[in-house]
Amino acid sequence: MLEARHMTPAACVMVIFGASGDLTRRKIAPALYNLHRERLLPDGTVMVGFGRTDFTDDQFRGHLKGNINEFSRERPVQRDVWDTLAGRIFYHRGSYGEPRDFEALREKLERLDERSGGGGSSCTRRPPVKASPPYPAWAPTPSIHPRWW
Ligand SMILES: NC(=O)c1ccc[n+]([C@@H]2O[C@H](COP(=O)([O-])OP(=O)(O)OC[C@H]3O[C@@H](n4cnc5c(N)ncnc54)[C@H](OP(=O)(O)O)[C@@H]3O)[C@@H](O)[C@H]2O)c1
Repeated sequence: MLEARHMTPAACVMVIFGASGDLTRRKIAPALYNLHRERLLPDGTVMVGFGRTDFTDDQFRGHLKGNINEFSRERPVQRDVWDTLAGRIFYHRGSYGEPRDFEALREKLERLDERSGGGGSSCTRRPPVKASPPYPAWAPTPSIHPRWW
């Protein structure tokens, strides 16, 4: 088996579109937790959930923690693992049809980028995780909202 230090990529700011939905609840939240638990999530990586639901950062963290306790292969959530992960999780309320929401997201990403060590200004350092319905046509992509990146 490969050692974690050989497999861990550079830190990034990860945006989860559809963060309040079922795919995030069942799959993405447990996957991120287990990557972190196995020390495969790069130091400095932060995650931003995007959705229309009106969560605060803390409410979103509590929501994900409940999801992990329900669906993770390893549970209950280990307190020390969770505490270090939770501080990297944020939420941004917005709708795909609202360019202003993406502008606000871009500003938030820039602030978080500095926190994660900087250097995240290229797309490769901001991988979007799509957990949204595949339509309508304004599904979140850099080509539709270029100023976001
Ligand atoms: N669930 C699974 O296990 C699973 C497995 C494989 C593939 N998938 C695929 O993953 C995708 C998502 O499925 P899901 O089950 O997670 O659906 P879901 O529970 O309905 O969640 C949809 C997510 O997209 C967000 N969303 C929808 N329209 C939006 C808009 N206009 N602006 C901003 N956010 C919007 C919702 O936010 P709000 O609710 O906050 O509005 C919610 O977070 C689908 O394409 C599905 O086929 C799902």
